[in-house]
Amino acid sequence: MGEYDGIEERKEGKSRMPLGMTILFIGLAVSGLYYVYLYLPQSSGWTQSKQYQQSVEVLKQASATHESKEVASGEPVDVNNQGLAVYKTNCAMCHGENLEGGIGPALTGPKFIYGGTLADHMRVIHDGTPNGMPAFGKQLGPEKVRDVAHYVAFRHTK
Ligand code: HEC
Repeated sequence: MGEYDGIEERKEGKSRMPLGMTILFIGLAVSGLYYVYLYLPQSSGWTQSKQYQQSVEVLKQASATHESKEVASGEPVDVNNQGLAVYKTNCAMCHGENLEGGIGPALTGPKFIYGGTLADHMRVIHDGTPNGMPAFGKQLGPEKVRDVAHYVAFRHTK
């Protein structure tokens, strides 16, 4: 209550928020809660173990198709040529443009610390190792892990 520099304080008691603003505010609050609800694991059905199970399935299928192809031709195949691209972007800086090694060991075989089969490569690439090989499972996803493992297996001598 009072007058400051000729501006008078209102005296009509409580001033209310305009109805439109109230509706907008409640609307936003409700839709916000609804979105939170949508993303809760209980309502979306998402679980970490389901996600993991899916990755395992893709990797299993990948090695199954690889094995049959290998049996058919006698050689591992870079199934869809995607592996090279993945390798250049993610692996070459440590293992060399031509798998000759660098920060990481050469991937030319025939000797491997963790084994030289396609499944060994997929495991190492997916999970990483305690001595400096980063885990790429999350970053690349199962298909690219498979592709790049194919590429390595395709390139090295057994
Ligand atoms: C930051 C450097 C780095 C990057 C990037 C990297 N690696 Fe490695 N990698 C290593 C090191 C170091 C080792 C040895 C780990 C050990 O001895 O435990 C290794 C080991 C491996 C092995 C096992 C070799 C063996 O003898 O058993 C494979 C296979 C492999 N890397 C593939 C890849 C692929 C494919 C990529 C790309 C998706 C990649 N690496 C990216 C550093 C790297």
